[in-house]
Amino acid sequence: MLIFSHRGYSGSYAENTMLAFEKAYEAGTDGIELDVQMTSDGTVVIFHDETLKRVCNLDKYVKDMHYEDLPLTADGLHHIPTLSQYLEWARDKDFTTNIEIKSSVIFYPGMEEKVGYLIRKYRLDEQVLISSFNPLSLLRMRDYAPHLPLGFLVGEYGMSGFDHLCSTYGFEYFHPDISIVTPELVESFHHRGIHVNTYTVNNEKEFLKAQKAGVDGIFTNIPETMKAIADQAATA
Ligand code: G3P
Ligand code: CA
Repeated sequence: MLIFSHRGYSGSYAENTMLAFEKAYEAGTDGIELDVQMTSDGTVVIFHDETLKRVCNLDKYVKDMHYEDLPLTADGLHHIPTLSQYLEWARDKDFTTNIEIKSSVIFYPGMEEKVGYLIRKYRLDEQVLISSFNPLSLLRMRDYAPHLPLGFLVGEYGMSGFDHLCSTYGFEYFHPDISIVTPELVESFHHRGIHVNTYTVNNEKEFLKAQKAGVDGIFTNIPETMKAIADQAATA
């Protein structure tokens, strides 16, 4: 089972920062998950929320800020990284990056094209997986970068037919919230040749649930702890 570090090593370091990514890499993660939004000048930045309130204590939207005017994180210690900065760092390293296109609340015109361009520029096509809660963003990504694998994200709500939807549109991955994961759900995707990675798995109970269901990968804030739990489960 692959272990992806969710927003980097976000259980111990500031989420979606270069420090959190570096620490995830040092911990031997299989993959790094990160979120992208876009500033008013069209810079693709790594940031989870649409607004800067929670992380930077500033009551403004990312979309309304010029990249050069973005604040530091609230503790004053971290810059908001650009996707270019991250890809430059990741290009010579051997792990998968899951770029989540954040477009459910605000649709950023042209963001998918820019993400596809940057992945090509840094020659990371073989090491990137794109995901989104918004299937339109996935379909747009395919227009700009048809070779990149796509993952459809869903939340806690259950709905039948996601397996059919993924195979109809050729999405290679399904990323459900751990609360809706069951062995039957995972099997219905595997049956169609679709991989299942679940989020966010941060304790032993959730790990065992994911493992029992047969998922291919988990997203976690605490990659080292999850690795230890996985090793323990393997020898039990
Ligand atoms: O990609 C899995 C997970 O990151 C989706 O939820 O809100 O943490 O971006 P969220
Ligand atoms: Ca995410």
